[in-house]
Amino acid sequence: MQTEPVFTNWTDRHSQLWGNQPVRVEHRLNRSPMFSMEGLAELIDRYPREHYSLVQMGAPGQRKLWREGEIGNLTGAEVIQAISRGRMWLNLRRVAHVDTRYRDLVNAIFGELGERVPGFRSQDESIGILISSPNAQVYYHADLPGQSLWQIHGAKRVYLYPAVKPFLAPEHLEDIALLGVEVNMPYEAWYDEHAQVFEFKAGEMLNWPLNAPHRIENLDCLNVSMTMEYWTEEFKRAQVVTVANAILRHRFGRVAKSRSTEGLGFWSKRVAQRLLRDSAALKRERKALRPISFRLDREHLGEILDLKAA
Ligand SMILES: [Fe+2]
Repeated sequence: MQTEPVFTNWTDRHSQLWGNQPVRVEHRLNRSPMFSMEGLAELIDRYPREHYSLVQMGAPGQRKLWREGEIGNLTGAEVIQAISRGRMWLNLRRVAHVDTRYRDLVNAIFGELGERVPGFRSQDESIGILISSPNAQVYYHADLPGQSLWQIHGAKRVYLYPAVKPFLAPEHLEDIALLGVEVNMPYEAWYDEHAQVFEFKAGEMLNWPLNAPHRIENLDCLNVSMTMEYWTEEFKRAQVVTVANAILRHRFGRVAKSRSTEGLGFWSKRVAQRLLRDSAALKRERKALRPISFRLDREHLGEILDLKAA
């Protein structure tokens, strides 16, 4: 049961901005035992392998290095220790699916949003917990569902870019929808002059307009964040169009002329999407992009062991 509100300084201004502009608001999750280091270590100890991702990234400037790995035989506390010394992040995906306390939290959050934002109706909400190394970065990318980022421990800098060309084009969203790889988007240093930059502290949440590209730099401290995704009816319709256009372009080499979500074109795309989206070939393609290539080293926390290619 959630007793006090999750958002602690919500005003009418936040209600008016939500979905249209970035919204920064304060919350109380950083004070909850569900997000203490002990609570998180215990969660990692019993986290199902299929529901986490562990990624090692390159130093600044080494953008190409991006490897996926696994925890191996480390305890949750050791995993957190390893992350605090390395350059990686652990994403506990689908945490509300794994542990009902987080499901209750999701319900409380979206209950509050439903009361506070006129007309706001969401579906398929999910949260993940992201534990990341000092100075780690998340490269420039966009996400398909609605997104909010909650800072729990540590601090980071968030760059948010406009969801229009040249920062974001329909084909970028199509590639993400089809291949599931978010970070191959073109990025130029001068984009930053058009970004809104947030110094993001523990106890703050940031929400931004749909598909707005962003990148993140941790400050020199261990970071714990919660990522939150959700869909609305409008977002789902946009997604159907994106997936259908992606299939047209990749499988049939045609560039879709329309992003309309009305009329016959929309519905025939919807059928095409259902037929092709989950084809076996597509699944193989997606999996091949993300091989597991390392394991955490229990003897040297913060270092990794290479796994031989199968
Ligand atoms: Fe993101």
